Amino acid sequence: MEDAFGHRISYLRVSVTDRCNERCRYCMPEEEQAWFPKEEVLSYEEMLRVLRVGASLGIQKVRVTGGEPLTRPGVADFCAQIAVLPGIRQLGISTNGTLLSREEQGMTQAARLYQAGVRSMNISLDSLDRASYHRTTSRDLLPKVLEGIDAALEAGFQNLRLNCVLMKNQTEREFMPLLRFAAEKRALLRFIELMPVSTREVLDERNFLSTEAARLMIEQHTGPLIPLPDFRTNGPAAYWQVPATGQKIGFIGAITNLHFCESCDKLRLTSDGKLRPCLGSFLEFDLRTPLRAGCSDAELAQLIRDVVARKPKEHDFRQNYQPNRRMIAIGG
Ligand code: 5AD
Ligand code: SF4
Repeated sequence: MEDAFGHRISYLRVSVTDRCNERCRYCMPEEEQAWFPKEEVLSYEEMLRVLRVGASLGIQKVRVTGGEPLTRPGVADFCAQIAVLPGIRQLGISTNGTLLSREEQGMTQAARLYQAGVRSMNISLDSLDRASYHRTTSRDLLPKVLEGIDAALEAGFQNLRLNCVLMKNQTEREFMPLLRFAAEKRALLRFIELMPVSTREVLDERNFLSTEAARLMIEQHTGPLIPLPDFRTNGPAAYWQVPATGQKIGFIGAITNLHFCESCDKLRLTSDGKLRPCLGSFLEFDLRTPLRAGCSDAELAQLIRDVVARKPKEHDFRQNYQPNRRMIAIGG
């Protein structure tokens, strides 16, 4: 599938739930807790149908997201079913890490995900300081996340990606502890610019720290970083390397990088069954109604193609974008 601007669409992010056990300031403010009613959330069977038809149209990579995906029961079994769909080559999950070490049937959640065929894992980690982690997420769960990271490593996950959202007057003191920690865990550390995706005062210029400012601050400790223009993971992160250690660091400049959308290959399915061609745009198309009205696979395929055809050239974050849906509903 190709959109009107030559983006080849091969990646679908599936949000399995809008619920989360944390309340990150930039994502899921405490006061906004209107979950989707159960009947509005797609069943796993419905999601698998969209994925199967998507795979027949060229979707090869899938990432399971939330909210916090591990708060929805049965997510590991769901992943196992995705992994065996014809055409799906890569399966990943994005999690806050708090539930990875929890045991169920004698296995950690991390081990169950690995067994299900998940091979790429992104874990949010904004701080290694317990009090500051608590302030950002409104939950005192840093020890659980650290346990979760170890559980993931034990389960066999390699190249974990640790994602830190950049916040001015806050992330600055985390840079070196996070770099050291990521190196110790052989994880890829990435810094993400704050995006205006939920309604709240934190998504404000005063809290915004650009990836370039972050890099310059890191360089005060490490010396100049070396750009790695040819090293890419699935997304739009730009990677740089610490000369002395070889450690790679990713910068996701969603706001300041004007080329951010050029290589976009993604669609997003929200847990209430809307297909979104772009995270930073109001556009979304309802798949739940046709799914529940008994549409055929061919009709579903046509709907997906129509959404791809309307994928915008780039996101609207720089055009005075006013969020109308919480990040949690969209799945990052
Ligand atoms: N800006 C940037 N990243 C965000 N995330 C959530 N909200 C925002 C935001 N406003 C990221 C979190 C998490 C991922 C699912 O989305 O870091 O890792
Ligand atoms: Fe939950 Fe992740 Fe959103 Fe934080 S960023 S509230 S952990 S979904």
